[in-house]
Amino acid sequence: MKVIVIGANGNTATRVIQLLLHSPHEPLAMIRNVEQRAKFDALGVSTVLADLEYPIDHAVTGCDAVIFAAGSGGHTGKDKTVLVDHIGAIRSMVTAQRQGAKRYLMLSSINADEHSNSQIAHYHKAKALADQFLMQTDLEWTIVCPGGLRDDLGNGLVAVSEETHLEGITTRDNLARVLVGCLDLANTIGKRFSLLEGETPIDSALRSV
Ligand SMILES: NC(=O)c1ccc[n+]([C@@H]2O[C@H](COP(=O)([O-])OP(=O)(O)OC[C@H]3O[C@@H](n4cnc5c(N)ncnc54)[C@H](OP(=O)(O)O)[C@@H]3O)[C@@H](O)[C@H]2O)c1
Repeated sequence: MKVIVIGANGNTATRVIQLLLHSPHEPLAMIRNVEQRAKFDALGVSTVLADLEYPIDHAVTGCDAVIFAAGSGGHTGKDKTVLVDHIGAIRSMVTAQRQGAKRYLMLSSINADEHSNSQIAHYHKAKALADQFLMQTDLEWTIVCPGGLRDDLGNGLVAVSEETHLEGITTRDNLARVLVGCLDLANTIGKRFSLLEGETPIDSALRSV
């Protein structure tokens, strides 16, 4: 499959791209800054310039699958949370439907909840509303909800659960392996699950969702 990775320059997405390079799938890195292109050129990965705050049809056309790993981050205002994590995400889903990219993997978050009263409720609400939109589309969706992200080396051992109101951490390594692993596992279609560090090998964990 040709897989567009949205937010490709991000910390998790960069790992996703590297895994896709060693998979049967062909990655396309969606970036929003031309200066980020050299990093992907060096890897031999195609890039496309696009921004979730604007139409992205030109980026998604010809793709079979979307991995959404973008996010406004903690250093922008609440307006960007709405524009990127909520509305930008929905834009990517509508575009995927329009362009015939049927498979859609969403990097969400534990505790995403439209009624959240957490310290980052604006973020948890935005992620929940995007997830809800996705679940009502006819896309072949999977929603992965990690805990606090860490850059430690992933050991390939995780805990997955339908319960997403949890506390815990997730390495970006393991998260990237799960996102790419889901592409080839039809049983993950139509599933939304939490992903924390745990004791189950990733492949077994994904086959159990
Ligand atoms: N941090 C946590 O503990 C945590 C926990 C649970 C879930 N999550 C979720 O995991 C996601 C990925 O985390 P991460 O640390 O890997 O992300 P990251 O390194 O912050 O990367 C996010 C990427 O999104 C891109 N982006 C931002 N606005 C965009 C826009 N308008 N259009 C296109 N791309 C845009 C950024 O582009 P630039 O490179 O151009 O800035 C960046 O490359 C987060 O966004 C969050 O939703 C995070």
